[in-house]
Amino acid sequence: MCGIVGYIGTQTATEILLSGLEKLEYRGYDSAGIATIWEGDVNCVRAKGKLHNLRSKLEQVETHAQIGIGHTRWATHGKPEEYNAHPHMDAAMRVAVVVNGIIENYSELREELKQKGYQFRSDTDVEVIPHLIADFFKHSPASVPFSPSLFLEAVRDTVKKLRGAFAIALISADYPDELIVVRQQAPIVIGFGQGEFFCASDTPAIISYTRAVLPLDNGEIARLTPLGVEVYNFAGERLKKQPRLLNLNPMMVEKQGFKHFMLKEIYEQPGVVRACLDAYFNADWNVSDSTNSPVKLGLSADIYSDLEQIQIVACGTSWHAAIVGKYLLEQLAGIPTQVHYASEFRYAPTPLTPNTLTIGVTQSGETADTLAALAMEKERRQGKEPKYQARLLGITNRPESTLGQMIFHIINTLAGIEIGVAATKTFVAQLMAFYALALDLAYLRQSISPTRLQEIINGLRQIPGEIEATLEKQEHYIEQLAHEFAETKDFIFLGRGINYPIALEGALKLKEISYIHAEGYPAGEMKHGPIALLDAKVPVVAIATPGSVYEKVISNAQEAKARDSRLIGVTPVNDGEAAEIFNDLIPVSKVDELLSPILTVIPLQLLAYHIAARRGLDVDQPRNLAKSVTVE
Ligand code: M6R
Repeated sequence: MCGIVGYIGTQTATEILLSGLEKLEYRGYDSAGIATIWEGDVNCVRAKGKLHNLRSKLEQVETHAQIGIGHTRWATHGKPEEYNAHPHMDAAMRVAVVVNGIIENYSELREELKQKGYQFRSDTDVEVIPHLIADFFKHSPASVPFSPSLFLEAVRDTVKKLRGAFAIALISADYPDELIVVRQQAPIVIGFGQGEFFCASDTPAIISYTRAVLPLDNGEIARLTPLGVEVYNFAGERLKKQPRLLNLNPMMVEKQGFKHFMLKEIYEQPGVVRACLDAYFNADWNVSDSTNSPVKLGLSADIYSDLEQIQIVACGTSWHAAIVGKYLLEQLAGIPTQVHYASEFRYAPTPLTPNTLTIGVTQSGETADTLAALAMEKERRQGKEPKYQARLLGITNRPESTLGQMIFHIINTLAGIEIGVAATKTFVAQLMAFYALALDLAYLRQSISPTRLQEIINGLRQIPGEIEATLEKQEHYIEQLAHEFAETKDFIFLGRGINYPIALEGALKLKEISYIHAEGYPAGEMKHGPIALLDAKVPVVAIATPGSVYEKVISNAQEAKARDSRLIGVTPVNDGEAAEIFNDLIPVSKVDELLSPILTVIPLQLLAYHIAARRGLDVDQPRNLAKSVTVE
């Protein structure tokens, strides 16, 4: 995934582009570049690595350009070198292009262009675009009837030749008052200011300048000039579109005194859980209320009726939330549920089952594998008899995303924008969505008693306060503990039952931001092989919450201790065997076992954060990662 931004107006473009790119750096940071039009030429400056490298280079360039485009890259085609950085230009250096996405048929286009004598300077798929535009100009008439601009026509002609998923922004020195923007299955929004217009892959890039935005739909091209915005479809027909006002405050995309976005986002979790409780649960419901439902997700009968099976597709942290979801859907609602990695499901789908709900979980709503798995499911069920037809539900933090446009039924996870690449608050919000869904189904199917339902909902209402207590009481201790592990090479995380996915999530958090090798295991599996890894140098974090598997986890932890591992317990129990075996004990509040994952994940997020911070790493932008992965 990459980030693109564009500006046309009356202010100096460079600073606006750089500040936009800063907000988009979470999308990729292998290289960055901007191109502006100044004194009749395109000025293009690019730098390998993070944005500050580009900033330093730009200090030597004086320009008062009022139009420009910028890009921050997560490398797909071609190494993260300056020559592969966007913007890419044609041979005459008149057209500059930035792209987020992939041009799937670039090799054939590249070959055709080479045959025509065009020379390539990069290894990217994107470079075909400026050459195709130059080629159009070479053979085009001076104008095209009914078209406001030849540049627009050149772009329209070019995008019709491209296959793939992309968002593009383009400028040309020969059309200095036009910024052209294209969307085909990769997000891009247009921002409307006072005599100035913007485009960006994501709204945080422009929220400091305007809250009036228009997300482009697939197959649309926008022409931005100092006088306004026109939107066309790929056939060249003008479309009527209205901007809408964003409910986003610029402060949401600032660190607000925290050292990193990740820490800020960890601390936002009590508020996120409160927002979900307010949105998902009926505050007035009680056990004797037989007319109202306790849950108000607003999902219609076509999702729920005659439901026999649920299958969930997701990636990364969202996949971990889905495994907690499986546990809840099976244990509370009694519905057999399968969880698939979206990237696997695409190529090895399960045989078609009747009356099946397919849930896609993706915080960004842009993960290519998850979107493709859902699209495949929709397609293969098309035209089948009613019970085999697709029922799709999306759980996302970005309802305006591609997922939101593709699926009608959405649960919005209400975590607010998450900037840190490592997901924290969006994970907890996904768990809340699963609690609401499982309880809604349990209520409708009467698979648990109203008293038990009330007990769980009451327990959920205590969670924000319990997270606050954990943060307040444990962060300092966890930070001290983290210092002792800054040089550790391997970590094991153990959990069982509903806390097994939390062990996986703890390991993923540590891996992705601290670069320490970590594995999460179901505690009972250790003895079947992984126990061979253990010795005094490999600490083991065990999640031991009272309930169905507490004693089992303690026994598994004992087995690790017997192999000299240092044992860190995440547990509400601080006496008896727990107090004896754990070398370090991170207390969490005692709650219903079913609710424990929302609490046990908090110390693991803090542990990963403090280890990475102690190692002096870039917590918010870990190497090789991007916030969401819009390529296969
Ligand atoms: O936007 P998504 O939830 O679809 O993203 C899925 C994964 O790429 C994501 O969870 C990734 O694993 C995060 N870096 C986890 O912290």
